[in-house]
Amino acid sequence: MRTAVLISGRGSNLEALIGACARPRAAAEIALVISNRANAAGLQHARAAGIPVETIDHRRFAGREEFDQRLSNTLQSYEIKLVCLAGFMRVLSAWFTGHWRDRLLNIHPSLLPAFPGLDTHRRALAAGVRFSGCTVHFVRAEVDAGPIIVQGVVPVRPEDTPEALAARILQLEHRCYPLALDLVASGRARVEGERVLIDAAAAPGVMVINPKP
Ligand code: GRF
Repeated sequence: MRTAVLISGRGSNLEALIGACARPRAAAEIALVISNRANAAGLQHARAAGIPVETIDHRRFAGREEFDQRLSNTLQSYEIKLVCLAGFMRVLSAWFTGHWRDRLLNIHPSLLPAFPGLDTHRRALAAGVRFSGCTVHFVRAEVDAGPIIVQGVVPVRPEDTPEALAARILQLEHRCYPLALDLVASGRARVEGERVLIDAAAAPGVMVINPKP
Protein backbone atom coordinates (compact mmCIF):
# COMPACT_ATOMS: atom_id res chain seq x y z
CA MET A 1 0.00 0.00 0.00
CA ARG A 2 1.49 3.32 -1.12
CA THR A 3 2.42 5.25 2.03
CA ALA A 4 3.86 8.71 2.64
CA VAL A 5 5.83 9.76 5.71
CA LEU A 6 5.70 13.38 6.88
CA ILE A 7 8.64 14.71 8.89
CA SER A 8 10.11 17.96 10.19
CA GLY A 9 13.42 16.91 11.72
CA ARG A 10 15.66 14.00 12.69
CA GLY A 11 13.67 11.25 11.00
CA SER A 12 14.66 8.23 13.08
CA ASN A 13 11.12 6.84 12.86
CA LEU A 14 11.21 7.43 9.11
CA GLU A 15 14.42 5.40 8.97
CA ALA A 16 12.76 2.56 10.90
CA LEU A 17 9.71 2.60 8.61
CA ILE A 18 11.87 2.58 5.48
CA GLY A 19 13.86 -0.37 6.84
CA ALA A 20 10.76 -2.36 7.76
CA CYS A 21 9.01 -1.69 4.45
CA ALA A 22 12.06 -2.88 2.51
CA ARG A 23 11.46 -6.41 3.87
CA PRO A 24 10.01 -8.91 1.37
CA ARG A 25 6.55 -9.41 2.90
CA ALA A 26 5.93 -5.79 3.97
CA ALA A 27 2.36 -4.65 3.29
CA ALA A 28 3.29 -0.98 3.00
CA GLU A 29 5.63 0.75 0.58
CA ILE A 30 7.16 4.13 1.48
CA ALA A 31 6.50 5.91 -1.81
CA LEU A 32 6.97 9.54 -0.73
CA VAL A 33 8.52 11.60 2.06
CA ILE A 34 7.33 15.15 2.68
CA SER A 35 9.03 17.68 4.94
CA ASN A 36 7.93 21.19 5.81
CA ARG A 37 11.61 22.04 6.29
CA ALA A 38 14.07 21.81 3.40
CA ASN A 39 16.95 21.13 5.81
CA ALA A 40 15.29 18.35 7.85
CA ALA A 41 18.09 15.91 8.69
CA GLY A 42 15.74 12.95 8.17
CA LEU A 43 15.49 13.60 4.44
CA GLN A 44 18.86 11.89 4.04
CA HIS A 45 17.17 8.54 4.87
CA ALA A 46 14.70 9.01 2.03
CA ARG A 47 17.38 10.08 -0.43
CA ALA A 48 19.62 7.15 0.53
CA ALA A 49 16.74 4.77 -0.17
CA GLY A 50 15.85 6.45 -3.48
CA ILE A 51 12.43 7.57 -2.22
CA PRO A 52 10.93 10.76 -3.75
CA VAL A 53 11.12 13.79 -1.47
CA GLU A 54 8.91 16.89 -1.53
CA THR A 55 9.48 19.97 0.61
CA ILE A 56 6.41 22.09 1.36
CA ASP A 57 7.42 25.12 3.40
CA HIS A 58 4.45 26.16 5.56
CA ARG A 59 5.77 29.74 5.73
CA ARG A 60 4.90 30.24 2.05
CA PHE A 61 1.19 29.77 2.63
CA ALA A 62 -1.35 32.34 3.81
CA GLY A 63 -2.92 29.98 6.34
CA ARG A 64 -3.18 26.46 7.69
CA GLU A 65 -5.90 25.37 5.25
CA GLU A 66 -3.92 26.50 2.19
CA PHE A 67 -0.88 24.57 3.41
CA ASP A 68 -2.98 21.49 4.17
CA GLN A 69 -4.63 21.66 0.74
CA ARG A 70 -1.22 21.63 -0.96
CA LEU A 71 -0.15 18.74 1.27
CA SER A 72 -3.23 16.77 0.32
CA ASN A 73 -2.87 17.52 -3.40
CA THR A 74 0.76 16.39 -3.32
CA LEU A 75 -0.19 13.15 -1.56
CA GLN A 76 -2.88 12.50 -4.14
CA SER A 77 -0.54 13.23 -7.06
CA TYR A 78 1.67 10.37 -5.80
CA GLU A 79 -1.39 8.11 -5.37
CA ILE A 80 -0.75 7.82 -1.64
CA LYS A 81 -3.23 5.68 0.33
CA LEU A 82 -1.78 5.94 3.87
CA VAL A 83 0.05 8.77 5.63
CA CYS A 84 2.38 8.44 8.64
CA LEU A 85 3.23 11.49 10.71
CA ALA A 86 6.71 10.99 12.17
CA GLY A 87 7.91 14.03 14.08
CA PHE A 88 5.90 16.34 11.80
CA MET A 89 5.71 19.56 13.79
CA ARG A 90 2.63 21.13 12.21
CA VAL A 91 -0.89 20.88 13.62
CA LEU A 92 -3.17 19.70 10.81
CA SER A 93 -6.58 21.28 10.19
CA ALA A 94 -9.88 19.54 10.86
CA TRP A 95 -10.39 19.57 7.09
CA PHE A 96 -7.17 17.58 6.52
CA THR A 97 -7.72 15.10 9.35
CA GLY A 98 -11.31 14.60 8.13
CA HIS A 99 -10.23 14.06 4.53
CA TRP A 100 -7.59 11.49 5.55
CA ARG A 101 -9.64 9.98 8.35
CA ASP A 102 -8.56 6.42 9.21
CA ARG A 103 -5.74 6.71 6.66
CA LEU A 104 -3.56 9.01 8.79
CA LEU A 105 -1.28 7.63 11.55
CA ASN A 106 0.77 9.40 14.19
CA ILE A 107 3.28 8.34 16.84
CA HIS A 108 3.48 10.05 20.21
CA PRO A 109 6.04 9.26 22.94
CA SER A 110 3.64 8.57 25.81
CA LEU A 111 0.92 6.11 26.71
CA LEU A 112 -2.00 8.18 25.39
CA PRO A 113 -4.37 9.53 26.54
CA ALA A 114 -1.77 10.45 29.19
CA PHE A 115 0.59 13.33 28.44
CA PRO A 116 -0.42 14.54 24.97
CA GLY A 117 1.36 17.55 23.47
CA LEU A 118 4.87 18.85 24.03
CA ASP A 119 7.21 18.34 27.00
CA THR A 120 5.78 14.85 27.44
CA HIS A 121 8.65 13.19 29.29
CA ARG A 122 9.17 15.96 31.84
CA ARG A 123 5.45 15.82 32.68
CA ALA A 124 5.50 12.02 32.93
CA LEU A 125 8.44 12.16 35.37
CA ALA A 126 6.77 14.93 37.39
CA ALA A 127 3.63 12.80 37.68
CA GLY A 128 5.69 9.91 39.06
CA VAL A 129 4.35 7.28 36.65
CA ARG A 130 6.06 3.87 36.87
CA PHE A 131 5.65 3.14 33.18
CA SER A 132 5.61 5.23 30.06
CA GLY A 133 5.91 4.38 26.39
CA CYS A 134 4.68 5.27 22.95
CA THR A 135 1.38 5.19 21.10
CA VAL A 136 0.67 4.81 17.40
CA HIS A 137 -2.85 6.01 16.66
CA PHE A 138 -5.16 7.18 13.91
CA VAL A 139 -5.30 10.97 13.84
CA ARG A 140 -8.37 12.97 14.76
CA ALA A 141 -8.75 16.77 14.81
CA GLU A 142 -7.57 17.01 18.43
CA VAL A 143 -3.78 16.87 18.89
CA ASP A 144 -2.44 13.44 19.95
CA ALA A 145 -5.90 11.85 20.03
CA GLY A 146 -7.59 9.09 18.07
CA PRO A 147 -8.08 5.32 17.93
CA ILE A 148 -5.02 3.50 19.31
CA ILE A 149 -3.35 0.94 17.05
CA VAL A 150 -0.22 -0.10 18.97
CA GLN A 151 1.32 0.86 22.31
CA GLY A 152 4.78 0.11 23.62
CA VAL A 153 5.58 0.17 27.33
CA VAL A 154 8.87 0.90 29.13
CA PRO A 155 9.64 1.18 32.84
CA VAL A 156 10.45 4.58 34.32
CA ARG A 157 13.60 4.47 36.46
CA PRO A 158 14.08 6.58 39.60
CA GLU A 159 17.18 8.27 38.17
CA ASP A 160 15.56 9.06 34.79
CA THR A 161 15.94 12.45 33.18
CA PRO A 162 13.54 13.49 30.39
CA GLU A 163 16.37 12.76 27.93
CA ALA A 164 17.04 9.27 29.29
CA LEU A 165 13.35 8.38 29.23
CA ALA A 166 12.98 9.79 25.71
CA ALA A 167 15.89 7.68 24.47
CA ARG A 168 14.44 4.49 25.99
CA ILE A 169 11.04 5.15 24.47
CA LEU A 170 12.50 6.05 21.06
CA GLN A 171 14.00 2.55 20.76
CA LEU A 172 10.53 1.14 21.20
CA GLU A 173 8.96 3.66 18.80
CA HIS A 174 11.17 2.19 16.07
CA ARG A 175 9.52 -1.21 16.61
CA CYS A 176 5.96 -0.07 17.28
CA TYR A 177 5.54 2.21 14.27
CA PRO A 178 6.50 -0.43 11.67
CA LEU A 179 4.22 -2.95 13.42
CA ALA A 180 1.27 -0.53 13.40
CA LEU A 181 1.80 0.42 9.77
CA ASP A 182 1.99 -3.22 8.75
CA LEU A 183 -1.22 -4.06 10.67
CA VAL A 184 -3.09 -1.20 8.96
CA ALA A 185 -1.64 -1.64 5.46
CA SER A 186 -2.39 -5.37 5.49
CA GLY A 187 -5.99 -4.79 6.63
CA ARG A 188 -5.44 -6.66 9.92
CA ALA A 189 -6.26 -3.57 12.00
CA ARG A 190 -9.39 -1.56 11.39
CA VAL A 191 -11.35 1.17 13.12
CA GLU A 192 -14.67 0.28 14.69
CA GLY A 193 -16.28 3.11 16.59
CA GLU A 194 -13.34 4.89 18.15
CA ARG A 195 -11.38 1.70 18.82
CA VAL A 196 -9.07 -0.32 16.61
CA LEU A 197 -9.79 -4.03 16.25
CA ILE A 198 -6.87 -6.30 15.37
CA ASP A 199 -7.34 -9.73 13.76
CA ALA A 200 -6.92 -12.48 16.33
CA ALA A 201 -4.27 -14.16 14.18
CA ALA A 202 -2.12 -11.00 13.95
CA ALA A 203 0.53 -9.74 16.36
CA PRO A 204 -1.16 -8.06 19.33
CA GLY A 205 -1.02 -4.27 19.46
CA VAL A 206 1.31 -4.11 22.42
CA MET A 207 5.06 -4.35 22.92
CA VAL A 208 6.67 -4.45 26.32
CA ILE A 209 10.33 -3.98 27.12
CA ASN A 210 11.08 -6.14 30.12
CA PRO A 211 11.92 -4.04 33.15
CA LYS A 212 15.49 -4.91 34.15
CA PRO A 213 16.53 -4.64 37.80
C1 GRF B 1 9.40 11.00 18.21
O1 GRF B 1 9.68 10.92 19.59
C2 GRF B 1 7.92 10.93 17.97
O2 GRF B 1 7.24 10.12 18.88
C3 GRF B 1 7.49 12.36 18.14
O3 GRF B 1 8.54 13.12 17.57
C4 GRF B 1 9.75 12.38 17.63
C5 GRF B 1 10.28 12.28 16.24
O4 GRF B 1 11.56 11.70 16.20
N1 GRF B 1 6.20 12.58 17.54
P1 GRF B 1 12.21 11.29 14.82
O5 GRF B 1 12.21 12.55 13.94
O6 GRF B 1 11.37 10.21 14.22
O7 GRF B 1 13.59 10.84 15.12
